[in-house]
Amino acid sequence: MLIDPDRLLADLETLRGFGREGAGVVRPAFSEAEIAARLWSAEKMREAGLSTLVDPAGNVFGLPPGDGPWLLLGSHTDSQLEGGWLDGAYGVIAALEAARALQAAGRPPVAVVNFQDEEGRFGALTGSNIWAGNLDLATADALQGPDGRSFGEARAAMPGKADQFVPTERFKGFLEIHIEQGPWLVEAGEAVGVVERIVGIGRMSITFTGEQNHAGTTPMARRRDAFQGLAAYATRLNAALAPIVTEATVWTIGSARIHPGAPSIVPGKAVFSVQWRDAEAERLEAMRGAIRETAAAVAAERGLGCAVAEGVAIPPRAFDAAFCDALAAAAETVVPGRWRRMPSGALHDTSCAASRMPAAMLFVPSIGGISHSFAEDTAPADLVAGAETLAQSAARLA
Ligand code: GLV
Ligand code: MN
Ligand code: MN
Repeated sequence: MLIDPDRLLADLETLRGFGREGAGVVRPAFSEAEIAARLWSAEKMREAGLSTLVDPAGNVFGLPPGDGPWLLLGSHTDSQLEGGWLDGAYGVIAALEAARALQAAGRPPVAVVNFQDEEGRFGALTGSNIWAGNLDLATADALQGPDGRSFGEARAAMPGKADQFVPTERFKGFLEIHIEQGPWLVEAGEAVGVVERIVGIGRMSITFTGEQNHAGTTPMARRRDAFQGLAAYATRLNAALAPIVTEATVWTIGSARIHPGAPSIVPGKAVFSVQWRDAEAERLEAMRGAIRETAAAVAAERGLGCAVAEGVAIPPRAFDAAFCDALAAAAETVVPGRWRRMPSGALHDTSCAASRMPAAMLFVPSIGGISHSFAEDTAPADLVAGAETLAQSAARLA
């Protein structure tokens, strides 16, 4: 074995201590706990002999001596508002462990990265999207998080930022390992997934504006109730999307704010998110149309105002075939017969890296298929086997 399993698991536990909440973590991008975790990850990179650079977006790079180009390994340490302890964190620590293991074995060095705001507090894959040149910093700076703070304001809290980004040309490719966050590997009793392609995403914020009024005196027929509009929209949207989607397509109204949010007030405003994901760009576009048209129709029928703000979208991407083959060969060595090739329905930083260089991903099983929850977990043996597969893959590709 190339890696040191005890060191891998110990570092993962230490990282879990930043923003720990029960079995999970609360580390949204640029929160105090998140910045502390990010600075700790930089310290671990330096201990591994890498020189660190924090770019203007808050991404932390650990670079070997010399000019490269190197193979880059990594993921993210920011979390959802209620996050699991492994989402992203596993990929950063496994990357660090692979870098240390390859160094100890006298193999060509690899670089490590901890991307910022993968979870999209301000957008989607914000740090890696900026680094890859698909989102300019000025546009990103104007993106607002749920608390009204902008990305520009938030990133000011990250100390020690350089003025420059690390050019993508300094890397010959990118690998990320991540928990699957779904049920397929664990249900099949398999240990590793070789991820060959990743979905794209569309995002929107919709505001229905009605008339705020007294909940005891306003006759039902005269109301312009923004929440009733949202409830009707959720049902109508499912019907509108039915002819467009496949079984693999997903869409979610994951956040909604009812204004002013009191039992005795007819809601005057509903602000809600709509997010949709699919592997086909054309289908994502068709869904965008249906989502907008259905909102306009429901609002018109109910006398509501309707305003739509589109968020940063990410296109679907296929990963590099030769990289996938190298990962498959490593998986067959580490967990013979217990791996599969598969797509990703979750977004990952590899999507952005793949727009600039050869890239691919590995998955390890998620117990119960649970993620974006404090209950998220993976068996230690699977964490170890996955990290070893990453190290052996990197040895083949570095
Ligand atoms: C990233 O965690 C995603 O939402 O897919
Ligand atoms: Mn993640
Ligand atoms: Mn996530």
